[in-house]
Amino acid sequence: MPVSNSASTASVAERLPITYGSLAQAVADPLGAIRQQYESHGPISAWEDGGQRVVFVFGPEYNQRVLTDTETFHSWFFPVRGPRGSAQRNLTSGLLNQNGAHHREQRRIVMEPFQRRSFAAYGPRIVEMTEAMLHDWEPGQVRDLHAEMNRLLLRVTSSLLFGFDCPDLAFELGETIERWGEMNHHMGLAAIIPHTSQSFDYDKLLTYAEHVEGKIKQMIQVRRANPHGDDVLSILLRSQASGSGLSDEELIGQTNLLFAAAHLTTAHSLTWTFFLLAQHPAEGDKLTQELMELETSGEFEAFHLEKLAYTDRLLKESLRILPGSAYVQRLCVRPAQLGPFTLSRGTVVLFSQYMTHHMRELYDEPERFSPDRWLTIRPSPFAYLPFGAGPHNCLGGPLATMLMKLVVPLVWRRFRMRVVPHSEINANAVATMLAPLTPVRMQLLRAQEALVRAEVTGNIHRYVDLSASTLEGASNLAT
Ligand code: HEM
Repeated sequence: MPVSNSASTASVAERLPITYGSLAQAVADPLGAIRQQYESHGPISAWEDGGQRVVFVFGPEYNQRVLTDTETFHSWFFPVRGPRGSAQRNLTSGLLNQNGAHHREQRRIVMEPFQRRSFAAYGPRIVEMTEAMLHDWEPGQVRDLHAEMNRLLLRVTSSLLFGFDCPDLAFELGETIERWGEMNHHMGLAAIIPHTSQSFDYDKLLTYAEHVEGKIKQMIQVRRANPHGDDVLSILLRSQASGSGLSDEELIGQTNLLFAAAHLTTAHSLTWTFFLLAQHPAEGDKLTQELMELETSGEFEAFHLEKLAYTDRLLKESLRILPGSAYVQRLCVRPAQLGPFTLSRGTVVLFSQYMTHHMRELYDEPERFSPDRWLTIRPSPFAYLPFGAGPHNCLGGPLATMLMKLVVPLVWRRFRMRVVPHSEINANAVATMLAPLTPVRMQLLRAQEALVRAEVTGNIHRYVDLSASTLEGASNLAT
């Protein structure tokens, strides 16, 4: 049972905002621990376990300091690096484990395929794959939206990033990288603490990393034989061939990170968006209205994404209330003062998009899902940061936004959805992403059918207020 200083017998001199407790316990429920830290101590606090201290920061002031003072706070997303030259070391050598001049140089190279002019061409492929998924859907069917979005995103990311159009290969690679990500999460105590004692798990991780690296190398070899496509890997291979300076090991690290960063974050975000729409009938109707107006004016097929004003608010709100990336950590690399804490080298500092987005000081009724709040609010980049902020901000953010702005309307104009009544919906951070931990089973409705909110159980109620009093359309409660 963790003990907070505010309630403990600590002397006045020691009365820093600290919780004393087992970090392993915090890791078992990362978002519960994060919320507890914020509610007990406010925008800055620490969790201490023996000699190990982790500092938590929430809100724009500390987010800005930690995310922009890159001389002091280093990004080290994968804390378990493995020995030099190992597959684990190569796989963890992407942008999120690089800092300073090296990061800037590598990011410049990796950014090239993510310029808007490069990825505009991806739109038709995203549409085609979404339509292929919908081809098998029928009104009345029950589908696990989480599994559907995962499959769709595996296909889309492997096609856009690597030029793969073969779903089997995409699923195999996706599952391999996902499993490796989970092993890292487990070994690095939810990516908070490096736990690299020569344990059985550590050895297993190193062996599995060899398997993942083998698969990525195979894929690079296939692309290298024909690097003429507009996929991200082909663009990187062409720039490597013309002397960009990207080594083979760096290419493995960047490729692995791109796949890991792109696929699950976007799949989770889409799943949450459909769940929130289904549970808020009035919002679902607003989306239908916007799509009908576009169809009537003949503009839907032309994908005028800038005209999707409500869809834009919907996605902003969905990424606020259930952000695909829930928290990230930084490593303090030189002594520093942060609020009341004197940090020594090696202290982990954790910031949380989830908690910042749920701060009452920043968002009125933060647990209420209300896309129209975006008609009147304009939070700073450090108060609203689903894609991070500062030099490590998400370079795939514009691509992910375009992707979601295509997929949500394409699905919603054909099918509306009702969550299967009494479903248990649980969520928590897995490998730092806010993931559904249970299937999200939805009954598919025709586009004209009335939306009906369903009673659900599970810890989803911690994150979103689904109580009847806050919901328009609550009279349509499915039991
Ligand atoms: C909804 C979907 C997504 C979310 C919520 C998301 C979120 C984030 C966040 C919060 C960061 C910053 C991490 C930090 O500061 O430590 C980040 C970085 C990154 N993301 Fe995304 N991301 C998404 C989609 C994508 C996609 C589609 C791609 C690639 C195609 C991508 C590639 C990356 C890369 C390479 C970085 C590291 C950038 C750097 O260190 O310079 N992400 N993402």
